[in-house]
Amino acid sequence: EWSSQPEVTAAHPPKNAAGDGDRRPISTVLIIIAMQTEALPLVNKFHLSEDIDGSLFPKGVPWVRYHGIYKELHINLVWTGKDSILVEFSKFGCVLAGVDSIGTISASLVSYASIQALKPDLIINAGTAGGFKAKGACVADVYLVSNVAFHDRRIPIHVNYLYGIGARQTFSTPNLIDELNLKVGKLSTGDSLDMSPQDEVLILANDAVVKDMEGAAVAYVADLLSVPAIFIKAVTNTVDGQKSIAEEFLQNLIAVCTTLAQTVSQVVDFISGVYQIIG
Ligand code: ADE
Repeated sequence: EWSSQPEVTAAHPPKNAAGDGDRRPISTVLIIIAMQTEALPLVNKFHLSEDIDGSLFPKGVPWVRYHGIYKELHINLVWTGKDSILVEFSKFGCVLAGVDSIGTISASLVSYASIQALKPDLIINAGTAGGFKAKGACVADVYLVSNVAFHDRRIPIHVNYLYGIGARQTFSTPNLIDELNLKVGKLSTGDSLDMSPQDEVLILANDAVVKDMEGAAVAYVADLLSVPAIFIKAVTNTVDGQKSIAEEFLQNLIAVCTTLAQTVSQVVDFISGVYQIIG
């Protein structure tokens, strides 16, 4: 019965012909992840298998899809994969290394291709983030993101400025927030792990409590293709303290990714059996 189900509440009132929106159960979930360390605990938790057929994406791209059925949901986890880079060592010559394809470009491409191929009912972008301790963020906190924006797309010409910031609200999920008791805050996205003084000014202007390198890009593509998207970000490091961002990030990465996976699995548990009401 509809009314007895928890709901993922639509951001806008339903406006289809019947006036009651689309009430199909959520069936296909797409989890978008940028780092292998973030992805693997979830692959294990949901017992997902790697797509070895590889026909979903163009030949040669590093993107990896894991999939499986969990509590009657079709779970697809897409990881942006490894980028091949040539590293030069003075004594040993060049070595080919693989590094996670983090940042907005890979996140946008993977979002677009995965949405086209999988037609998900809901996107979950899960990952790690830097947090502002002055705004209450602590290492290992997990945030459900209410709004996203960019902080490194400065276009100081009239309304082009607003395009650069690209601020948008995420899909509204009040029942999920109540049920899981999640911290809620705004996210600012940019293509750097560290934070220049100018970044800091713009992140604070975005009123963000967490910063990442993919969220606003995933939100942009999800909006383009009208797919509801939510963002779950776990804090590996603070960005407004005395510690080195990169050091703190690496120190906490593995432990925080375990916490991230626990929260994402709680979110997926909540979503199983939920009906979508999408205008
Ligand atoms: N992910 C984890 N820490 C981050 C930071 N400081 N900036 C951007 N993304 C992050």
